[in-house]
Amino acid sequence: RIAGPCSVVLFGVTGDLARKKLMPAIYDLFHRGLLPPGFSLVGFARRDWEDQDFMQIVKDAVRERARTGFDEKVWTNLADGIRFVPGTFDDPKAFEFLATTLKELEQTRGTEGNAAFYLSIPPGSFAQVCEQLEAAGLTEPKGDAWRRVVIEKPFGHDLESARELNDIVEGVFPADSIFRIDHYLGKETVQNILAFRFANEMFEPIWNANHVDHVQITMAEDIGIGGRAGYYDGIGAARDVIQNHLLQLLALTAMEQPLSFDAKDLRAEKEKVLAAVKLPGDLAAATARGQYAEGWQGAQKVPGFLAEEGIDPQSQTETYAAVKLGINTRRWAGVPFYLRTGKRLGKRVTEIAVVFKNAATPFDANQTEELGRNAVVIRVQPDEGVTMRFGSKVPGSNSFEVRDVTMDFGYGSAFTDSSPEAYERLILDVLLGDPPLFPRHEEVELSWRILDPIEQFWAEQECQPEQYESGTWGPRTSDDMMARDGRVWRMP
Ligand code: BG6
Repeated sequence: RIAGPCSVVLFGVTGDLARKKLMPAIYDLFHRGLLPPGFSLVGFARRDWEDQDFMQIVKDAVRERARTGFDEKVWTNLADGIRFVPGTFDDPKAFEFLATTLKELEQTRGTEGNAAFYLSIPPGSFAQVCEQLEAAGLTEPKGDAWRRVVIEKPFGHDLESARELNDIVEGVFPADSIFRIDHYLGKETVQNILAFRFANEMFEPIWNANHVDHVQITMAEDIGIGGRAGYYDGIGAARDVIQNHLLQLLALTAMEQPLSFDAKDLRAEKEKVLAAVKLPGDLAAATARGQYAEGWQGAQKVPGFLAEEGIDPQSQTETYAAVKLGINTRRWAGVPFYLRTGKRLGKRVTEIAVVFKNAATPFDANQTEELGRNAVVIRVQPDEGVTMRFGSKVPGSNSFEVRDVTMDFGYGSAFTDSSPEAYERLILDVLLGDPPLFPRHEEVELSWRILDPIEQFWAEQECQPEQYESGTWGPRTSDDMMARDGRVWRMP
């Protein structure tokens, strides 16, 4: 589907996200013909720029990152609808100028007054921007036109602040005009979890506590915090990633089949399963945290977290977090879900491994490498696909020796079209007004309910997270957490 006439107003155009993801995604959508010819992009920032300067910023970002390749003709058409509004968030005049700009675009580009305000800015500024938009009459368009707001995580830093934030945004925009971005939901492989589970007869009958031993959800990154010290210090891996991406992966893996894939039904099932998540009683035994120390990433020597520019050398912020969660439903009774994420780990990989119980077999099936168990591994990235791991007789052996083998589905070989970038899909859905891939506030609250006691427990420890060498697989305490349960982390 192609988006109808509209503009996107981008707040935070000087940020990393805008340059690396949003601007290239908008261009790619335009290039693929998924945005209307009169589509317009308005940048808003505290910079003394003219339209031309902003155009150059967008052009550089597009040249550097666009996946569809730079095409001069496509660019010229897009650039025609690019405008810039200089100003600060506390300046009503800047918002009046924004209103004038949107009117001008309505007349010159035929945007019909439809606009999405994309707040790629620190949450501390959400309130001010929302209030200014309202005061400038930008939240209530005339006639049939729509106005939507897009907010990027973090949606607060705990339950209380998430509620405050939500009250502010919902005070200005109706709930169905608010699009909360969790970009993991925009990934094809994440959407495929639902197809994999519910469009096949093979997996769902065994997707439960009768057959599943445990589930491991891993999001490992090889990068450090880069230039994001200001955001990351004090936030840490659990708030940055577990509260949103990993709990969304857990919800999609564990939820019941929704009545339909409409936003209402899908969100309702995710919420049910998030509400059923329970924390183990002993948080010391069921969580682990770490901080990367210097080490080697490939052939490059990299500094430790505490030596990164902008980080407090005494910082207790974790760059690695692992938690063990239970799900209080009949389907998952007694099945632990282990979640881990970290920066500067061995490699970049996100996967969900559903590990099955050992078969009651007469064969010597335990002589296997790694887990020694059947597993379905949903490879979210970078090598997108699904792996099935099962035992097979070692050829030639006369003792019926069984070893693990794998069977692979890879997107790259099964499909010729490459998947769109997550942000392309999500921006298009915002403009189409299609909400299933956007968590609503209830999900955000439920996720904070899970994380808050863990964060509180860690804060009470008042100690430095365990150091782990960059380029390794995280702190020893995380392996200990698994070992206590007689399990090991998969080596992706
Ligand atoms: C973001 C986190 O949400 O996701 C970052 O804030 C992290 O810390 C990023 O690096 C990872 O995204 P992806 O799509 O590269 O896995």
